Amino acid sequence: MNKDQLVIFDTTLRDGEQSPGASMTKDEKVRIAKMLEKMHVDVIEAGFAIASEGDFAAVRAVATAVKDATVCSLSRALEADIRRAAEAIQPANSGRIHTFIATSPIHMQHKLNMRPEQVIEQAVKAVKLARNLCADVEFSCEDAGRSEMDFLCRIVEAAIAAGARTINIPDTVGYAIPELYAEQIRQLIERVPNSDQAIFSVHCHNDLGLAVANSLAAVQAGARQVECTINGLGERAGNASLEEIVMAVRTRPDVFSVTTGIDPVHLVPTSRLVSTITGFAVQPNKAIVGKNAFAHESGIHQDGVLKHRETYEIMKAEDVGWHTNAIVLGKHSGRNAFRSRLQDLGVEFATEQELNHAFMLFKQLADKKHDIYDEDLQALVSDSRAHE
Ligand code: KIV
Ligand code: ZN
Repeated sequence: MNKDQLVIFDTTLRDGEQSPGASMTKDEKVRIAKMLEKMHVDVIEAGFAIASEGDFAAVRAVATAVKDATVCSLSRALEADIRRAAEAIQPANSGRIHTFIATSPIHMQHKLNMRPEQVIEQAVKAVKLARNLCADVEFSCEDAGRSEMDFLCRIVEAAIAAGARTINIPDTVGYAIPELYAEQIRQLIERVPNSDQAIFSVHCHNDLGLAVANSLAAVQAGARQVECTINGLGERAGNASLEEIVMAVRTRPDVFSVTTGIDPVHLVPTSRLVSTITGFAVQPNKAIVGKNAFAHESGIHQDGVLKHRETYEIMKAEDVGWHTNAIVLGKHSGRNAFRSRLQDLGVEFATEQELNHAFMLFKQLADKKHDIYDEDLQALVSDSRAHE
């Protein structure tokens, strides 16, 4: 494993689907998986094979359709789950079993009703069985964000010794804070004696709006796999957003000493596909894939961008799959942007006076009308010329 490579593990089809109302059919999952493959996602978590017949069939269909990415199924640390996961991913060129058990005091006591020693025992048994069925096994400590450090170190060491090659430290309930979460990852890597035999992974939920920040802080502390979803879809407030993680790492190489294999030009089309299939609209101001992410309305910004794009743009819209950045004409727009848009429409002003008059009419219209279309501009210029 190259220490500079950040593995992108997409769980849109599993944790994303756990978002209430976001369930997908088998064929829809295959369509999304093919887009993820085209984008060069490293691992696609296709579902939770034991959850239902439909989920089993979907994992199997994705494992059959996808050739270049690893296809993974989730399973609890239970024999029946692990066997079902192994069966579902069997057609994959490269398959992974992802098994998990909760490690926080609150989950062990109230949900599992198990003692910590029993949890370690069950985790080891599960990882060993999974390793007998599949060479690539990931182990997750559910609710790691609220687990005790000494216990985490013990269970992680035992899971690696049992054969897990990826260790995931999920912030299941979105409770983590970047600095503290990074410290948790740093300490685990330092204190677990066999930590060099596994890739440390993070999986952050967005309950406090910190999923991306927490994931990125963990990468700086040594995590080399990030679990994320398209559009940040996921249980409750969602998971860390894939597009934000990928573009943060790419845009700030001065901060992150890692690269991903993702081809970002597929980010916007994939976001659209997931939104269309699930019926979950993408908020206009969503980073990277929202419709306003590269749109400029204020006159000062428009003028700056027309002079040099980098005045107000840290990424290129075309690089993430937009056709171009957008200069949106509205009441905050300046004369320069107005003239430039009309030039694009083939309209040249013979004199400054002609431009000023048309610009005045435009400002009057922008105060009354929310969206100004090219047809409005053309009509306005004709009016302006007729009255001169
Ligand atoms: O949030 C979580 O803890 C999970 C695990 C099952 C990985 O989704
Ligand atoms: Zn999750």
